[in-house]
Amino acid sequence: VNYLDQAAASAPGKIILIGEHFVVHGSYAVAAAINKRAKVTILGAKGKVSSIISGKEKSRLFAQDSSFAAIKAVSRCFFKEFGKPKENITIKIESEIPRGSGLGSSAAISIAASAALSRFYGLELESEKILGVAMDGEKAVHGNPSGIDTATSLKGGMILFKKNVCCKSINLNRSLQFLIVYSGVERTTSRLVSKVARRKNSFPSQFSFLTEASSFASLELVEAISRCDLPYLGALMNLSQAALSWIGASTPKLDFLIEELLRRDDCYGAKLTGAGGGGSVIGLPKPDKVGAVLSTVSKHFELAFLASTPQDGLRWE
Ligand code: MEV
Repeated sequence: VNYLDQAAASAPGKIILIGEHFVVHGSYAVAAAINKRAKVTILGAKGKVSSIISGKEKSRLFAQDSSFAAIKAVSRCFFKEFGKPKENITIKIESEIPRGSGLGSSAAISIAASAALSRFYGLELESEKILGVAMDGEKAVHGNPSGIDTATSLKGGMILFKKNVCCKSINLNRSLQFLIVYSGVERTTSRLVSKVARRKNSFPSQFSFLTEASSFASLELVEAISRCDLPYLGALMNLSQAALSWIGASTPKLDFLIEELLRRDDCYGAKLTGAGGGGSVIGLPKPDKVGAVLSTVSKHFELAFLASTPQDGLRWE
């Protein structure tokens, strides 16, 4: 192996516009990369032990604890296939994506880590391989991921996704702006995914009906985007929120936030994004209301920002 002294890569977080949860059970879904990224740098021959650092947090790379679960799982998977590094390494994470916010922080870190490790080893892995290693990491953390988060982070832009079937970039005729508001409530994806699976077991036929409806709405959403039909795009987001609420992914705080975005007619649509149970909501603001709605929510929520799509996927740094 021809180790480099240092290698780095970055990858974006994501929002899901439609189809989260149902995508785990076979529905189509649509997701987009956002303008918040995670960067992972691998530094060779540093320190007495191999370690991971992120701001003030630090852990040994091979410590068997729950800290830095995503990056430890990705590294284990990578070393299993390509061998452990001959020297101690430091893995440095710099992420703009709040953890547990539903904005794809662990997927972005997994993609960036998988890419940075491959470059550090002097390998030129194909993007499918980088994705495969990152997915193994995600599986270790989330149990049963559909793969939509890692696929979006790798590819960037906006994608139409179906587990093991389809991962297609959607052409945008013009850029689209979404409002993203983090509720401040951290949550774990795996807990929510299990909760939804229990709901499926209790109501199999209703769940299957909603999974089909989610596929239909995802394909409609792609059409709405190609026509730049924002009112219909918003209506589909609202429909998706109703289904997510029924399967138990929403919370009173998220409902309140969504209600705020819709109440004054500032947004065409609003919904939770990602696993729910906390995390973030997204709104599709009317073009002339963008500033007003952002300043209103910013009064009550610390992290509210606009994300325009398309954004870059994996980037070598
Ligand atoms: C999480 O961002 C999206 C979920 O659908 C889980 C997954 O697809 O792996 C909740």
